[in-house]
Amino acid sequence: MKIVLASHNPGKMKEMSAILAAFGVELVLQSDLGMHIEVEETGTTFRENALLKAQAVMKATRMPAISDDSGLMVDALNGAPGVYSARYGGPGLDDPGRVRLLLENMRGQMPRTCRFVSVITCCFPNGDVLSARGECEGTVAFTPMGEGGFGYDPVFFVPPLKKTFAQLTAEEKNAISHRGKALEAFQVKLREYLEKS
Ligand code: IMP
Repeated sequence: MKIVLASHNPGKMKEMSAILAAFGVELVLQSDLGMHIEVEETGTTFRENALLKAQAVMKATRMPAISDDSGLMVDALNGAPGVYSARYGGPGLDDPGRVRLLLENMRGQMPRTCRFVSVITCCFPNGDVLSARGECEGTVAFTPMGEGGFGYDPVFFVPPLKKTFAQLTAEEKNAISHRGKALEAFQVKLREYLEKS
């Protein structure tokens, strides 16, 4: 089955294509269709933003469209940066800049517990919607470690593994990540949905 991806984030694209390919889903990039749809994320929850993105791309392409809305929720910062993870600190910052800002805001803060959250939503041209959520618990590291992944991966420390997400291989990250879990739950729902229809 072919599904259009409602994202331009190269880190997400890589992870979602790899995970969904294993489930027999072929992810089509908007660029393959000659499209580049930008959706304003005006929702206040991951679920709302995921739906906004998938719906807009499904309407424009008339194909099933899948989106991931995700972010890092830090307990000591009352859940920030949360749905604003991609825009934390404003438009002037890149990924390393946002990581630096997070570490500054965490100086002297306890506890350092946090979680990544991902909501995957797929919208079908007939109006049907499938959605799944995944979470991964961790702590905010004191300093960035590792070269892999993207975004906040260098400061997302996984205590049982004693490594940050950026120190894991892509396979190791996908096996435990919020996105990996959400996509696994999603593919179970997708199978049930396809069997019924
Ligand atoms: P959005 O879902 O496009 O609004 O952006 C999600 C943002 O959350 C990304 O730009 C990253 O900053 C952060 N994020 C989400 N998932 C991950 C991840 O797996 N690793 C690191 N950062 C992530």
